[in-house]
Amino acid sequence: MGTDRKRLAAEKAAGYLKDGMIVGLGTGSTAYWAIREIGRLVKEGLSIQAIATSKPSEAHARRLGIPLVTFKDVDRIDITIDGADEVDTQLQVIKGGGGALLREKIVASATKELIIIVDDEKLVDQLGRFPLPVEIVPFGSERTLRQLDALGCNPELRMHEDTPFVTDNGNYTADCRLGQIEKPYELHEAINRMVGVVDNGLFLDMAHRIIIGCSDGTVNEWEKR
Ligand code: 5RP
Repeated sequence: MGTDRKRLAAEKAAGYLKDGMIVGLGTGSTAYWAIREIGRLVKEGLSIQAIATSKPSEAHARRLGIPLVTFKDVDRIDITIDGADEVDTQLQVIKGGGGALLREKIVASATKELIIIVDDEKLVDQLGRFPLPVEIVPFGSERTLRQLDALGCNPELRMHEDTPFVTDNGNYTADCRLGQIEKPYELHEAINRMVGVVDNGLFLDMAHRIIIGCSDGTVNEWEKR
């Protein structure tokens, strides 16, 4: 059921792609369906080039024959389609549950139109129920975690089996259990000011369009005004 909703949103988003576009490919189980649909469209003749936000998404795209480029080749991306962990009614987003927030934010920041695809369970009135991921440098990570704690972030080092989870960039992730984020802009700045923090999963004022797959089989769209 969740898969159907993700797939519906992903397929709707892929409908925005046009010949000649540079396309950002997101990461996660919802973005997976978008990459799959883009692969199908490419096989049918859609002419695009894509840039991936993670090694798994890059491998998936390569398997499907989607032409890939890097930032060596391009500077601007026309459309990026990516998932999210939470979306509020102001189109503000938490990402990074899948461990790819830094590459996702680099790609999103180079993108003219960021399309976020979610199922309706990801919609919230206020961000923060989902633990906010923060990418941190391994050196001194114990101290960075203490600093995040002192800021009231309640961080927990993300683990993979018995060792810290390592991102595609060789960094660690701290998941911050905030409950509710009252002041997202201030929090974003305070976290990113810390030496040892690379970036956090708040994607503020970045999404242009949210496509929501709903449990009744419909798809809703919210557009930035
Ligand atoms: C990866 C992400 C994902 O887009 C986010 O975690 C949502 O994943 P899924 O579609 O599997 O629920 O930000 O870093």
